[in-house]
Amino acid sequence: MQTSTRSRTGTATETPDRKADATCLLDVRDLCVSFGDLPIVNGVSFTLHEGEVVGIVGESGSGKSVSSLAIMRLLPRQARITASRLEFMGEDLLSASERRYEELRGAAISMIFQEPMTALNPVLTVGEQIVETVRRHEGVSRRIARQRALDALGRVGIPAAAQRLDDYPHQMSGGMRQRAMIAMALACNPRVLIADEPTTALDVTIQAQILELLQDLQEEFRMGTVMITHDLGVVSSFTDRVMIMYAGQVVEDAPAQNVFSGPRHPYTEGLLASIPSSEEDTERLYAIPGTVPPPFDLPPGCRFEPRCSDARPPCRTARPRLIACGEDHMAACIRNTGYTFPEDMNGGR
Ligand SMILES: Nc1ncnc2c1ncn2[C@@H]1O[C@H](COP(=O)(O)OP(=O)(O)OP(=O)(O)O)[C@@H](O)[C@H]1O
Ligand SMILES: [Mg+2]
Repeated sequence: MQTSTRSRTGTATETPDRKADATCLLDVRDLCVSFGDLPIVNGVSFTLHEGEVVGIVGESGSGKSVSSLAIMRLLPRQARITASRLEFMGEDLLSASERRYEELRGAAISMIFQEPMTALNPVLTVGEQIVETVRRHEGVSRRIARQRALDALGRVGIPAAAQRLDDYPHQMSGGMRQRAMIAMALACNPRVLIADEPTTALDVTIQAQILELLQDLQEEFRMGTVMITHDLGVVSSFTDRVMIMYAGQVVEDAPAQNVFSGPRHPYTEGLLASIPSSEEDTERLYAIPGTVPPPFDLPPGCRFEPRCSDARPPCRTARPRLIACGEDHMAACIRNTGYTFPEDMNGGR
């Protein structure tokens, strides 16, 4: 994470570009995922450098988890994954063998899953699972691996870690399980961490503690993090760059501070307007009307058009692509193409 302080409105005080001399950990170009013939994710592209946090934000069903599970090669068999580039530290992951993936997953590239029970094995104790992960990847003795497991549980704020090590996942509360899974994901000091809603099940104190831990790892080990979240507060304080996803597409991509200070897509504007503010009457909180369309029922033109407060007739047929609309800022909206709406179309829905 870059050393800058940001307010919710995104005014950054110092943002040195540490990316310039940092190693590129992940390079993803035009990642597409379909289930059978149904396209789910369409053309996600980003790079992740050492010490950097890239955020992915979007409502439920926008394709955030499917994109990250595709990178981890953890989608069911019927998923078809294509990309013009998918590299981890220069190594091509598209052609990587299953065995190579097994070496990387949980060690160099690790994931915090949205649903802890998908990552934890119900018939093994939490301690056994972390010990097994550390031993498999690092070949250390059982005693050392157990100590590492203890340290990992302690780091995520699990009290009486020595006793909890022998708990089965079902003996833990939801929040505790979430932390155990985070401990497991971090036990081998990954270079890349994909964190899918890592803190939503946790109360605010623990949430702050986990974010602080991730920040420490970024500084100490130069870990790169892909942070998937619904929480724009987490984005503003934690991420360097953010991609806004809608219905399987990235609709805006920019440094987090720019997204907050000058969003260029109406969807992002809607998300920002939905942030609760302590000064406002929360009963009148803005909500974007409608819901994300399912992949089998997408509108013919711009996917956001039916919900967009600024939609015009051309948006019903136009399919805006993600294009540069400012320095280091991209958005997929017809407003940013230089397209001038004829007078009679202004606001004419
Ligand atoms: N295994 C699957 N088979 C078919 N469709 C799927 C599968 N997994 C996800 N989908 C569909 O892909 C779309 C994107 O789902 P995804 O889980 O990536 O959303 P998300 O952005 O992570 O949402 P949330 O915020 O609720 O976690 C959804 O329409 C979902 O129904
Ligand atoms: Mg998800």
